[in-house]
Amino acid sequence: MTAPEQPYPSRAATFAAFGEHVSRGKTAMFEKYGVDVVMGERHGACFHDAYDGRRLFNCHSNGGVFNLGHRHPAVLAALRQALDTLDIGNHHLVSGMRARLAERLVATTKGRLPGVVFAVAGGEAIDLAIKVARAATKRRGVVSASGGYHGHTGLALAAGDAKYREPFFSSAAEFTQVPFNDVDALARVVNDGTAAVLLETIPATLGMPIPEPGYLKAVGVLCQTRGAKLILDEVQTGLGRTGTLWAHEADEVAPDAIVTGKGLSGGLYPIAATLLSRELHAVFDEDPFRHISTFGGAELGCAAALAVLDVVEAPAFLPRVCALGERFAHGLAGAPFELRRRGMFMGLKFPFEDAGLMGAKLLIDAGIFAVWANNDTSVVQFLPPLVCTDAEADEIVGIVRKVFG
Ligand SMILES: Cc1ncc(COP(=O)(O)O)c(C=O)c1O
Repeated sequence: MTAPEQPYPSRAATFAAFGEHVSRGKTAMFEKYGVDVVMGERHGACFHDAYDGRRLFNCHSNGGVFNLGHRHPAVLAALRQALDTLDIGNHHLVSGMRARLAERLVATTKGRLPGVVFAVAGGEAIDLAIKVARAATKRRGVVSASGGYHGHTGLALAAGDAKYREPFFSSAAEFTQVPFNDVDALARVVNDGTAAVLLETIPATLGMPIPEPGYLKAVGVLCQTRGAKLILDEVQTGLGRTGTLWAHEADEVAPDAIVTGKGLSGGLYPIAATLLSRELHAVFDEDPFRHISTFGGAELGCAAALAVLDVVEAPAFLPRVCALGERFAHGLAGAPFELRRRGMFMGLKFPFEDAGLMGAKLLIDAGIFAVWANNDTSVVQFLPPLVCTDAEADEIVGIVRKVFG
């Protein structure tokens, strides 16, 4: 494994250039907290600092982007092979690669959601889901969870937390938010003007509150009786992270749309997708150019995503995720935080605000990269790669126990 060559000779020079041209706010924040990591060599469950080589377990996994670890060999091989003959293709034309990936995604829903629209990123795919729900229902309203997070594009931003949307004046009267896990609150606002209810199956940025038994099922029934479409954001929870392929499979709910992204191409090529019911997909029958994404469903991304699906659909994969989750639960039993967990989707919930922030800093110093939940700072988001070996899992548990001992 060779480390990628760095464009700047030192950490200080990298920070200076990044602060000057990319984000002053980020460099100032990292300097304040004494976090000076620059990603260098990366492989499997770990990456190394570019300048001093220190190793960090990646327990952020970029919200699921690195579910299969860094540079998974099968995904890398598929992408390398695709690079010999393909490029992004042309989104105006019919494409076998796009069709094959769509067919595979549809099969994950047992054909219940037979249409797929590709995007470059999760936010774009959420926007698309809201657009089609509006077009199909001829309604404008969107109800989502307070403190939820769906990305920073137009409609996704309007459905997210106030701190992201208000600086950009994106709040709109048609967007309403209610507490997660509260069906009664939802029932009070979903009406004949509601096009869609949009929820993360488990809201990551809100600190991984696990849906209470029956909650999502009741949401599904409510949507059906009131004629609103249910969109489930599985950008972080999907593709095996929770021990089922889609997290909502455990909740006996049948959404009208599922949004996926992040881990879909193993962190090697950007691609996202919205899976749609036949009714929602029909919005494009009359005019297929109503919605366009030049890079959405790029053929190179399709090649990577097909390889990811081969890995996560292998018979032993999901049982292994469940076993690994149990291993973490067992190893972390008795630690001074509440372990919120479904499969390998985990949050370390501390009893006071900002503890997640401090916890993440302590973990980084001890060799585990993790971040706090931005909309509940008492929680550390904890997403080790799903490909951890038992030995790696035990080492991670050992570090966590030592840090919070
Ligand atoms: C649950 C969820 N939905 C949507 C998004 C937006 O995805 P992207 O950043 O690829 O636009 C994110 C990103 O973190 C997310 O966590």
